[in-house]
Amino acid sequence: MPRPIAVLGGTGPEGFGLALRWARAGETIIIGSRDARRAQDAAEKINATVGDKTRASGNENNAACAAADLLVLTVPFEGHAALLKQIKPVIRPGSILVDTTVPLAASVGGRATRTLGIWQGSAAQETAELAPKGVSVVGAFHSVSAELLNADGPVECDVIVCSDDPTASEAVRFLAAKIPGIRAIDGGKLENARILEQITALLIGLNIRHKGHSGIRITGLPAAAYQSQDGT
Ligand SMILES: NC(=O)c1ccc[n+]([C@@H]2O[C@H](COP(=O)([O-])OP(=O)(O)OC[C@H]3O[C@@H](n4cnc5c(N)ncnc54)[C@H](OP(=O)(O)O)[C@@H]3O)[C@@H](O)[C@H]2O)c1
Repeated sequence: MPRPIAVLGGTGPEGFGLALRWARAGETIIIGSRDARRAQDAAEKINATVGDKTRASGNENNAACAAADLLVLTVPFEGHAALLKQIKPVIRPGSILVDTTVPLAASVGGRATRTLGIWQGSAAQETAELAPKGVSVVGAFHSVSAELLNADGPVECDVIVCSDDPTASEAVRFLAAKIPGIRAIDGGKLENARILEQITALLIGLNIRHKGHSGIRITGLPAAAYQSQDGT
């Protein structure tokens, strides 16, 4: 039985790009949106792009969330806490909740090259505080460019995955590695997401300065550190 992936905010470039890549890898996708019709349109676009074998559907965020236990949060920071409070009653016990959020100062009218100070330490830790008990929060994909996800070529970057639940971290690393070009690396505890979120603000600054789509590659680790196994 395929395990669906609900991508909340999957109508935007980051969520749509991840969903598209996973659909290409044979995963079952549910796009979530504040508007069911918008989610269905995005899902239809994925099905039309990938071809006959895809199983993408779309629904309002709560319905999408209730239909899956692997959730990927891809909304801007300004909508992050409110959406978590909204979906909290329908998140299934034992779910994995992947947070991609970069809390850019642009959310409150500041610069896109700076992050906001967050009381909990990071957006991912805020997610962990707002999620129901028993849900495993994983911080990942912060520095994966939406432009590259939505293009055809390999996404040449490493994804550092942080979580306090090693099994959930492994499952997300396995999922990340399904995207051509991506290597997924265990980044330790969720508190390290703070650093990943901040590095992404730096990458945005590099993109502006040099007009590109930068990512990060980690060198010098043993081969096993770059390999992912199906931990589900
Ligand atoms: N763009 C990138 O290259 C990139 C890279 C790494 C990480 N990220 C992170 O990924 C997340 C999504 O990025 P994005 O560029 O795709 O963002 P976005 O286009 O601004 O938003 C994504 C989707 O979130 C929904 N949304 C917007 N405002 C919302 C609100 N106030 N409350 C609830 N939902 C809202 C919208 O969907 P509906 O209107 O259909 O509900 C929108 O299509 C962000 O947290 C970003 O930091 C982005």
